[in-house]
Amino acid sequence: MVSHLDGGRDRINIAIDGPAGAGKSTVARNVAETLHYIYIDTGAMYRAVTYSALRSGISPGDSEQLGTHAESIDITLKPGPMGQIVLLNGADITRDIRSREVTMHVSQVAAVERVRLRLVTMQRLLAQSKGVVMDGRDIGSHVLPDAELKVFLTASVQERALRRFKELDGQDSITLSQLELEIAERDRKDQERDISPLVCAPDAIVLDSTSMTIDEVADNIVNLSRTKLAEAK
Ligand code: DC
Repeated sequence: MVSHLDGGRDRINIAIDGPAGAGKSTVARNVAETLHYIYIDTGAMYRAVTYSALRSGISPGDSEQLGTHAESIDITLKPGPMGQIVLLNGADITRDIRSREVTMHVSQVAAVERVRLRLVTMQRLLAQSKGVVMDGRDIGSHVLPDAELKVFLTASVQERALRRFKELDGQDSITLSQLELEIAERDRKDQERDISPLVCAPDAIVLDSTSMTIDEVADNIVNLSRTKLAEAK
């Protein structure tokens, strides 16, 4: 896994949290590229556990088996030309983890304490040398409470569903209103789970991307990071 060599004196950690479809991963990837930081998509890690468990025939409702499974598999994140590559026991599963089946079950898997413990340990290790842009739901509030910059990125449910709908570009028979319902349901599950729910950290800067472009949001975060970096020196 990539790490920085000088102990991170010239870098900070950036946490980007928010609900599904707010644009976190595209924004986080752009910010990381501009700053030459490492981008870590923690949702992809929960998706990788979900994909692996489903493939092994484990029920998404079986917390015990899910915990044991998460502890037994090797998940590696690698920077790739199109963003982050996800490897499961060495095999590339980057595309597989975006399937609808995985999307439908991932909130349930992400609510399992042992799954979270395992992945949070990995996430903290990845960030220990600084220079990381990490996106997720609990990064600023739990995984990296000392991150120098915390952003909570949000957008209306309607706007998030519309973005997803355009992304699918007719590849799926799902309607816009079905997508809205699915997104609202995923928000509810992420916000209401007992362990590390989606919350806005008190020291996070809230950005509403409903009427902003990805570039505008990313520029905003890059500027904020430069201010924070100057403050941290
Ligand atoms: O960002 P995403 O849609 O790929 O995330 C997939 C799921 O993982 C989503 O239901 C929320 C969950 N998740 C989480 O609980 N904690 C994180 N740090 C990241 C994602």
